[in-house]
Amino acid sequence: MNSNFGLLFLLIVPFSSAETTKQLEANLTCYGELSFFLNGKQFGRNDQTNITSTYSLKPGTEVLAVRCRNYRHKPWILGSVSNGLVTDTRWKCTSLQEHLKKNNLFWRNPYFDDSQWAQAIAKFSNQEANPWGKVLGIRDEALWISTADENHTRLFCRRRLSDLSLKRAKDSLMGMFQATIDDVDHALLHRPRSQHEVGDVMQCFKKCQGDSQCHSFNFEHDSVLPTRKCELNDATKGQDPVNYVRRPGYTYYENAE
Ligand SMILES: *[C@@H]1O[C@H](CO)[C@@H](O)[C@H](O)[C@H]1NC(C)=O
Ligand SMILES: *[C@@H]1O[C@H](CO)[C@@H](O)[C@H](O)[C@H]1NC(C)=O
Ligand SMILES: *[C@@H]1O[C@H](CO)[C@@H](O)[C@H](O)[C@H]1NC(C)=O
Repeated sequence: MNSNFGLLFLLIVPFSSAETTKQLEANLTCYGELSFFLNGKQFGRNDQTNITSTYSLKPGTEVLAVRCRNYRHKPWILGSVSNGLVTDTRWKCTSLQEHLKKNNLFWRNPYFDDSQWAQAIAKFSNQEANPWGKVLGIRDEALWISTADENHTRLFCRRRLSDLSLKRAKDSLMGMFQATIDDVDHALLHRPRSQHEVGDVMQCFKKCQGDSQCHSFNFEHDSVLPTRKCELNDATKGQDPVNYVRRPGYTYYENAE
């Protein structure tokens, strides 16, 4: 490991890989009865369809998990988070009981392996002109999401704020990694060292580690393809704040100090 990069490790401290320093807010609703979970713990519920519930996301949040039950109609979920995340087809959803306890972990736990779950399907966005109208308090670009299955009464959806939490479980001896909840859907632009196609975030991390002038990287966390883009940068967001911008589907990582 070179000296420039001595501080980029994988994080061993539980729940630190996707921490936020400021409080985030999630506004959610569901077509049915809503239950909301953060890092595996039930956080709130709302039995009234079409009423937005507001939840605070405390530091340490890695996974948002939402359940929607509706015994008469197909359940759907809609929501937005104050860092710009919205419900869209990058969420994962299932309605199958057999998908819930894979690896003996609960579906809402950060360590749960949701790789068998399908990407959500989307109905329409939260706008006045659409058939369900505009639900107040939720951003216009949020989409009503569910699974493709018909005739189900329970819908379970997850949004991992970073795919590090799963990697960390596998690579926990490797130390520490730096991405905050605010770095999800962000990237540092115009500072390229090199670009790669990789299989997971660990491979991107290792590429950066192997380049003494690599100070941060952008990783394409949301991809339906087996390869993801890995962009090494010659600066950090602190050194070049103007080029640190919102970029859906990418997470920005940098060394610890
Ligand atoms: C959540 O709802 C409140 C009240 O309507 C609103 O002020 C806030 O901007 C909303 N936040 C998000 C992330 O949509
Ligand atoms: C939400 O409320 C609006 C206004 O009352 C209504 O038009 C719309 O159909 C409702 N949407 C759902 C999903 O119930
Ligand atoms: C859903 O249920 C209805 C009524 O029981 C049935 O006719 C239909 O074939 C079902 N659809 C699917 C996809 O299972």
